[in-house]
Amino acid sequence: MGELTVQGAKNAVLPVLAGTILNKGISIINNCPQIIDVKCMVKILTSVGCIVKWEGSTIIVDASNINNTMVPEEYVREMRSSIIMLGAMLAREKIVSISYPGGCSIGIRPIDIHLKAMKKLNVSIEEVNGFIECDATNMVGDTVTFEYPSVGATENIMLLSIFSEGITKINNPAKEPEIVELQNFLNSMGADINGAGTDQILIRGVSKLHDTEYTIMTDRIVAGTYMAATAITSGEVLLKGDIAQYTESIMDKFIEMGCILKKYKEGVLFKAPKRLTPVDKIVTRPYPGFPTDMQSQIMSALTVAEGTSVIVESVFEARYKNVDELTRMGANIYTSGNVAVIRGVKKLQGALVSARELRGGASLIIAGLAADGITIVENPHYILRGYEDIVRDLGSLGAKIYLKMTGDEFEEGKKR
Ligand code: UD1
Repeated sequence: MGELTVQGAKNAVLPVLAGTILNKGISIINNCPQIIDVKCMVKILTSVGCIVKWEGSTIIVDASNINNTMVPEEYVREMRSSIIMLGAMLAREKIVSISYPGGCSIGIRPIDIHLKAMKKLNVSIEEVNGFIECDATNMVGDTVTFEYPSVGATENIMLLSIFSEGITKINNPAKEPEIVELQNFLNSMGADINGAGTDQILIRGVSKLHDTEYTIMTDRIVAGTYMAATAITSGEVLLKGDIAQYTESIMDKFIEMGCILKKYKEGVLFKAPKRLTPVDKIVTRPYPGFPTDMQSQIMSALTVAEGTSVIVESVFEARYKNVDELTRMGANIYTSGNVAVIRGVKKLQGALVSARELRGGASLIIAGLAADGITIVENPHYILRGYEDIVRDLGSLGAKIYLKMTGDEFEEGKKR
């Protein structure tokens, strides 16, 4: 049996780092994963005038002076979640220009919900040559009701409303644990936010914030990924960190698959059976439903289950990019629209496969662990967007895995 401390959460640290610019002073953020997306967010902060220092897994941001109200296009195109800089920068500087975001190619990923809510709060928005130019000088608190609980839009409106006059209410917000994390971080700086994790969030504007030190929660998706890796290899692992609280829907599915999970104060003990049982149906949903970010990894585990499983991807429309690659490894998967039917096979075969996005890439590594022979996963830079060192982590549990990537491949991959 192995044990592993799970890294800090990507989807928590990114909005928290964006939030650091609201305080004209110092924020100390602990337990930051050293992943490409965090490095990109650090570059964005630096580009607008912050002084940022990494000390191990701690990032120290001095946002005393902001000297640029334009978020550089190259970073925004590289990482979709940089759109949360819009809310934070508008709260601080009032006038901001940002290009349309890029990011993982898992669907169309529009930002209409963000912009509609901002307009409701009296932010003027003009779209000029692919840039969004915003002015929040006349912004006032109001009620916004989301037609869909978008994670990024919820974070953007929370950040935007920190200093606004009156109260801003968000109805039907996202309830992800990372939203609660953002609320807790902002309140630790002196903000007045309530209701994160429920059906309504209330933000009372404050005039000023103060310095803070904050520790980022454990990454529930990385924890789930390592559960899938353990499940497919019939292994046993103690995953250390604050995991059980946020991974209920993921753990339920692994239990259905025959795994045994025990919750301890220090983490979760996970034990897989010799052969996994299939699941009737997994439907991805906003939290507390089964997370779309775990869909590809659990699919890999199901490829070797004893029977047929069904997955319905209801959050993103193009999230089966790993299926062709898994099929090359001998998996039997049929997809139609957002439905995938996975007929379990006895064994996968090693192959040359290609990562096309972050979680789908991780799913190929998981499949490779259980495959006969050698699996080579091309384009590993996608995986490094979210996993600090998946090679180190799985290697420490006994996997024979190594990373080979030249600087050129890395740069070339980022452009694709
Ligand atoms: C965040 C997560 C991502 C996760 C996703 C869903 C971060 C950095 N990223 O992404 O890992 O997969 O939540 O849990 O936290 N939508 C619109 N219009 C909008 C906004 C979203 O139609 O204005 C749609 C999207 O296309 C998608 C769905 O809503 O189909 C969910 O998107 P959203 O919750 O906004 O996800 P992100 O914040 O982009």
